[in-house]
Amino acid sequence: MQHIYVDHAATTPVHPQVVKAMMPYMDKQFGNPSSIHAYGREAKAALEEARRTIARLLGAEPKNITFTSGGTEADNLAIFGVAFAAQEKGRHIITSQIEHHAVLHACQYLESEGFEVTYLPVDETGRVKLDDVREAVREDTILVSLMYANNETGAVQPIEEIGTFLQEQGIIFHTDAVQALGMIPFDVSTLPVDLISFSGHKINGPKGSGCLYVREQIHLHPLLYGGAQERNRRAGTENVPAIVGLAEAFKLAHQDLEAKQQRYTQLRQVFLDILKEEQVAFQFNGEIEHCLPHIVNLSFTGVKADALLMNLDLEGIAASSGSACTAGSLQPSHVILAMYSDEDRAQSAIRYSFGLGNTLEEVEEVARKTGQILKRLNS
Ligand SMILES: Cc1ncc(COP(=O)(O)O)c(C=O)c1O
Repeated sequence: MQHIYVDHAATTPVHPQVVKAMMPYMDKQFGNPSSIHAYGREAKAALEEARRTIARLLGAEPKNITFTSGGTEADNLAIFGVAFAAQEKGRHIITSQIEHHAVLHACQYLESEGFEVTYLPVDETGRVKLDDVREAVREDTILVSLMYANNETGAVQPIEEIGTFLQEQGIIFHTDAVQALGMIPFDVSTLPVDLISFSGHKINGPKGSGCLYVREQIHLHPLLYGGAQERNRRAGTENVPAIVGLAEAFKLAHQDLEAKQQRYTQLRQVFLDILKEEQVAFQFNGEIEHCLPHIVNLSFTGVKADALLMNLDLEGIAASSGSACTAGSLQPSHVILAMYSDEDRAQSAIRYSFGLGNTLEEVEEVARKTGQILKRLNS
């Protein structure tokens, strides 16, 4: 049976070049970057080279990059870090209803600690409105956290517009760019954002790798206590192989960005055209012009997402019903619910996400198989 993986928004295979870059740091160059002997110095040099590489690709300074164990930790460090450092100034935080649980659950925990959180709605395009941010801002607002692009629908938020407003207000702005990285170029010298979360395993890097961009003068309360690593922001011996892999994945993610966008836009179009040809009834969740091109979220009304996913799996096709963290539970997607308040639409939403190695033939096959399965399920 042919296996086709179209769940790249959940995770991606590690690129061979990334594996190659990491290997030496797992055997011969295994030193602890905090050691002062030659082994340690070698590991430290690799660590700092990785930091420089990532900083350069973001238009940042190396000291603005804090390595973490992934997107979840980067989000938690940004949110708890600012909340606990700035709580004397205020205890109000703004986020949106469609954030990843790494943000939502962190905010919910803060509520239990006496912070107030406003969860902004989104419109049918899956996007937050600047006017809603304007209205939600208060004297005691210390942080706004809005994702760059949604992991279920690919909806890209108006981050520049909102960031410009927040900068005028002097409010710290965090964005979770885990899904946007590799599809959208970042230049922090012009982007009005103070903190940005990234994860390695969404861009063909290793799992358990990530980083947080932290603009100068942003004070963060640490999550972890121990050594003085990462400028006292993140104690613990650095995962040197993963960090080297992360930097290599960052480099690869920034190659041929435009060509990649065009390619995924074409794959998406072919996918949707075949579904139409197969006379499949579907609703596109989001607005195509404002979505990352490699994520396609569709609802097949009347069909339970689990049934379709199971049948796709039997055909060797790996897709998903929204975020991997909630897959397996029967909860309808909080993202689709926030967009349409339609339980059926949320229960029948499927995410197909393309990535490196997906061919046109594979995408055609996935669309045809989806059509065949739906006909079977509907009959
Ligand atoms: C938007 C978003 N934020 C955060 C995360 C968490 O990243 P990680 O798996 O590296 O902890 C994910 C992963 O699904 C994500 O899609």
